[in-house]
Amino acid sequence: MNAPTAGLTPTADVAATSDTAPGSDRTLTSALAEELRAAVGAAHLLTDPSVIASFESDWTGRFRGRARCVVRPADTTEVAAVMAAAARAKASICVQGGNTGLVGGSVPVDGAILLSTARLTALEPVEVISGQVTVGAGVTLAALQRHVRAVGYDFGVDFAARDSATVGGLVATNAGGERVLRYGTTRAQVLGIEAVLADGSIISRLTGLPKDNTGYHEMSLLTGSEGTLGIITRLRLRLVPRLTERAVALVAVDDITAALSVVRKARNRLPSLEAAELFFADGLALVREKTGLSAPFAETYPAYLVLECAGRTDPTEDLLEALADSDAVRDATVATDARGRHTLWAYREAHTESINAAGVPVKLDVAVPLTALAEMVASLPATIAAACQTARPILFGHINEGNLHVNVLDATSDAEAVTDAVLRLVASHGGSISAEHGVGRAKRAWLGLSRSPQEIAMMRAVKRGLDPDGLLNPGVLLDPA
Ligand code: FAD
Ligand code: MLT
Ligand code: ZN
Repeated sequence: MNAPTAGLTPTADVAATSDTAPGSDRTLTSALAEELRAAVGAAHLLTDPSVIASFESDWTGRFRGRARCVVRPADTTEVAAVMAAAARAKASICVQGGNTGLVGGSVPVDGAILLSTARLTALEPVEVISGQVTVGAGVTLAALQRHVRAVGYDFGVDFAARDSATVGGLVATNAGGERVLRYGTTRAQVLGIEAVLADGSIISRLTGLPKDNTGYHEMSLLTGSEGTLGIITRLRLRLVPRLTERAVALVAVDDITAALSVVRKARNRLPSLEAAELFFADGLALVREKTGLSAPFAETYPAYLVLECAGRTDPTEDLLEALADSDAVRDATVATDARGRHTLWAYREAHTESINAAGVPVKLDVAVPLTALAEMVASLPATIAAACQTARPILFGHINEGNLHVNVLDATSDAEAVTDAVLRLVASHGGSISAEHGVGRAKRAWLGLSRSPQEIAMMRAVKRGLDPDGLLNPGVLLDPA
């Protein structure tokens, strides 16, 4: 296993790190201001520090930075004009969508120009013949869902930040979420991309051809690139049929081994299975404290699963049968009506905000092979305690992908030690240091635990080729040096 890459030590305040972005003098020269104003219009160049402040910290409150200004372009041409002006001034650009990212990637450092995609909200009509749609990168996931559900389609990715997270952000982070089991990650939904490159040029490939082997696949390259290779402005997306017959089960189990056994059986018996999510008793307690939800069962159990099935016919009977067939189920409740399903999901989806309400957590998002999951989880408490005695780990996640969100409360002062210990443990089990949130700034120093020196060298070569001056999100994913 490789040692962590040298460079940034993640801290509670990105503004205090040693990242040096191009143009890091933080001043907005009048010449640059004039060019940006000409690009987006005076109303969409924001320079008032009290207005800019809301763009300078992340959702968790762990990362803070500084922007020299905020620009809000309305379309690809305006984005290209902003990028070209920034390139001439050698000023760096940080792209921000919904700012729900959890690894510090959407936070501007060293006086970057903050480019907000808030106005890239065009929603083209769904193309019914192909089951595809083209939308602006600033469209929120919830707006996309409303748009396509109205005509009998759905989008294959869903998660709790849907009201704020943007489609551009989903693609830039290759977001996972709650339906990967059935539809794959965001990458599997992307059929076309329009983007502005670091020199201000535009690439646009939005025909949506599912078969097209004509060279390098820039859509794959930009998906998951975390704003470091280009500014995504429009997307051509694959849609899935809207399935309205749904059943959700909350299942109580004894431990992670039991949870895995229930999921394995459900997956094999239920073609309609869409989601399999995991949380534990301590997370449930925090959720109940924050939301006021009542206890789901008379007894408290060590671990819980949320399973959702969806189809054209009511999947409830099949789900009940599958649960009845599993010895590992200690208790279960099933909801079929929208309100009941929503409540059962709330026990799982409210984890992020409930944990945040209890303090700023060290947020880690790891995946290990399912064969190693139980052993890794068993080792976690001691591993974390050795790095920080006061630490309070809360675990939850997307169990079918071996994707565990390790949130550690009361550990801010030992954030680096906790991160190091957990990520090394994960790597020793053949896992990934970032299953779905990306590397951002938070995990950059540990990239070498998941990627070989050759792979990192290849990433660097791509970055240098597309962004030789390092203007796009410097310090995200790769060390700017
Ligand atoms: P931002 O936070 O604004 O940006 C994220 C990164 O993408 C940054 O590096 C940014 O520079 C870059 N970026 C954004 N837009 C563009 C663009 N147009 N072009 C180029 N780069 C761009 N994530 C999951 O994967 N699965 C989950 O289940 C999940 N659940 C969440 C639940 C909650 C309550 C919260 C707060 C977050 C959750 N997330 C989850 C994390 C987050 O929502 C996703 O990473 C999401 O994809 C980020 O979208 P955004 O628009 O907020 O992006
Ligand atoms: C989730 O699955 O709820 C998210 O990825 C958010 C988080 O990790 O807090
Ligand atoms: Zn998640």
